Amino acid sequence: MHHPVEHFPTQEELEKAVQILRGAKRIAVLTGAGVSAESGVPTFRGAGGLWEGHSILEVATPEAFEDNPALVWRFYNARRANLRTVKPNPGHYALAALEERWTSTHFTLCTQNIDGLHRAAGSRQVLELHGRLTRVRCTVCTLIEDRPGETLDELPRCPQCGELLRPDIVWFHEMLPADVWLQAALAAEECDCFLVVGTSAVVYPAASLVDLARTVGARVIEINLDQTEVSHLVTLALHGKSGEILPELVKRLG
Ligand code: OAD
Repeated sequence: MHHPVEHFPTQEELEKAVQILRGAKRIAVLTGAGVSAESGVPTFRGAGGLWEGHSILEVATPEAFEDNPALVWRFYNARRANLRTVKPNPGHYALAALEERWTSTHFTLCTQNIDGLHRAAGSRQVLELHGRLTRVRCTVCTLIEDRPGETLDELPRCPQCGELLRPDIVWFHEMLPADVWLQAALAAEECDCFLVVGTSAVVYPAASLVDLARTVGARVIEINLDQTEVSHLVTLALHGKSGEILPELVKRLG
């Protein structure tokens, strides 16, 4: 992993990005934890990343939940508590402004994040590929409930059937919600401009949206502090903080 350095794109890189955006009829976006980093939500794989101190296998797989639901709930209750203190940053608002400009029929935001900050910033067409941390679902019956702001019990029970609740998010080894994934793949196939923002692009199938967009001839712009696994696929890489670069692009679009 390279060490991220304080960067900001050059004038010509920004101008090139604005030109690509100006020519775009349909935009699709994939965001990752990096877009929420400036809101104080920890990323997963950077220094001090969330997984440190926790091996993924002990807190983010169905097997881990089977073996030790109390530990998994302690981990997710801590992340739920962190959500109460975080707010969208200028990067989230800039993406909502881009959707405003292209309208929701021509702008689809696919996120791997489960923090709900895109919707909190006003984005409407948001595909939450990995679910949402405020939502819980029953491990037995069909109950799904959005429970924002609450600290749940160590082993929360379903109000409908009394069985154990789980976070309504996607763990490793689990399938993405099929309808959400289909919409995301369609958005990537139909776009002529694809923005990939703040993701290390190592988790599939989310990361495959980048190649899907490129395969249909879309221009791909990456915004990241660092090089990533998809940097070789992009038309233009803008290095720096998404909370600074995205508002700059919106400003230059006028
Ligand atoms: P990662 O932590 O793997 O990657 C975060 C990316 O954001 C890195 O490439 C950083 O360089 C970049 N970054 C950090 N701060 C940034 C900033 N201010 N501006 C721009 N870029 C910045 O997070 P994800 O790629 O989202 O899945 O991880 C993908 C998935 O792995 C998550 O959805 C989660 C995790 O396991 C599940 O839980 C299923």
